[in-house]
Amino acid sequence: MMHNERCALTNVLVTGGAGFIGSNFVRYLLQVEPQVQIVNLDALTYAGSPANLKDLPSPERHTFVHGDVCDRSLVDGLLRQHQIDTIVHFAAETHVDRSIVYPEQFLKTNVVGTFTLLEAARQYWLVEKQKPLEAVRFHHISTDEVFGALHPGEPAWTETTPYAPNSPYSASKAASDHYVRSYVHTYGLPCSITNCSNNYGPAQFPEKLIPLMISNALEGKPLPIYGDGQQIRDWLYVEDHCAAIHLVIAKGRVGETYNVGGGVQPTNLEVVEHLCAALDEVVPESPHAPHKQLMKFVADRPGHDRRYAIDITKINTELGWRPRHSLGQGLQQTVAWYVSHQDWIQTIRQQPDYQKWLQRNYTKR
Ligand code: NAD
Ligand code: TYD
Repeated sequence: MMHNERCALTNVLVTGGAGFIGSNFVRYLLQVEPQVQIVNLDALTYAGSPANLKDLPSPERHTFVHGDVCDRSLVDGLLRQHQIDTIVHFAAETHVDRSIVYPEQFLKTNVVGTFTLLEAARQYWLVEKQKPLEAVRFHHISTDEVFGALHPGEPAWTETTPYAPNSPYSASKAASDHYVRSYVHTYGLPCSITNCSNNYGPAQFPEKLIPLMISNALEGKPLPIYGDGQQIRDWLYVEDHCAAIHLVIAKGRVGETYNVGGGVQPTNLEVVEHLCAALDEVVPESPHAPHKQLMKFVADRPGHDRRYAIDITKINTELGWRPRHSLGQGLQQTVAWYVSHQDWIQTIRQQPDYQKWLQRNYTKR
């Protein structure tokens, strides 16, 4: 493995920066790195929106480009035009349920898209040597889902746990991680990877568990809990994830992967109950309170992973990172954000694609 302390972090290409974590990261990076210039490449699929990039701090240091990470000539042009020294790659298809119904787009964006970016970076940084090698970094955002599922009592995943992806989503992320690793070993491209657990927080698309439950509850719609609701996820507040990514890019070792997680592992049922209680407090006047009455058990997800848990020892001991938000604080802030952004929710929920998805995924469940 190569060791380098830091890339220049001056001209940063963020991909997928109009989505949930990407937009939070753009905001975070503009705040903590006063010199950085960000180019944000996003295809604006159903999951991405310019509304997530409203009111950025220092918007003059942010350039939005509407385009696809699979478009090699576009990516080549951006690297050159903006003299990119850092790539932070979020762009992906991300919803497990959608990957079960429409797996092909996951292969395209997650695997071919990552490959396209790697090739463009190799050409610009290694073949043409347009930047000093010690000044560049390709950082790939991945997921803990590449590790499969844990049985009760099994230890949390570390960076050396073998990959065992179970869904087309996690298989595509695992494949992209392997490509990144191979570019370090084969070509010496300075890359790093973070494998993170389930995120939650402001601007998460309202088809994932937490924002779906909040949005449905605000409208008095049923809260669909898959199976017995005893599945376990390791929840991380998105701002804590952004801090971890920043630290890995700034100080993490090239060629390394770092696991990132919240260290708190409630069942889905507990999460939904917690959200209902938080909503009862924030909107006590709602005709739908107590919101718990909206909970409804529905048919399980095929191949549903039972339990995720992530071991953060490496990033904690090497880089001093740990999550700053407790689950209680994070959920409270998230509920408050959604309650105060009901226009944002409605804009999405009125879209035909969103309605079609709800019908496809829930009507006959
Ligand atoms: P998201 O679905 O909210 O956003 C994805 C963004 O990527 C959208 O803005 C979308 O328009 C864009 N995009 C999709 N296809 C594209 C393409 N071909 N070209 C350019 N842009 C494209 O996703 P998210 O939850 O913010 O996840 C971001 C990254 O973090 C993903 O790589 C995901 O695998 C990873 N991750 C997410 C979580 C989580 O809990 N959300 C956890 C661990 C890792
Ligand atoms: P999700 O937010 O889709 O993330 P992931 O599948 O990547 O972990 O789902 C989180 C958990 O919530 C997962 O165990 C599936 C469950 N879930 C429900 O019970 N009902 C729902 O409507 C959704 C979307 C998810």
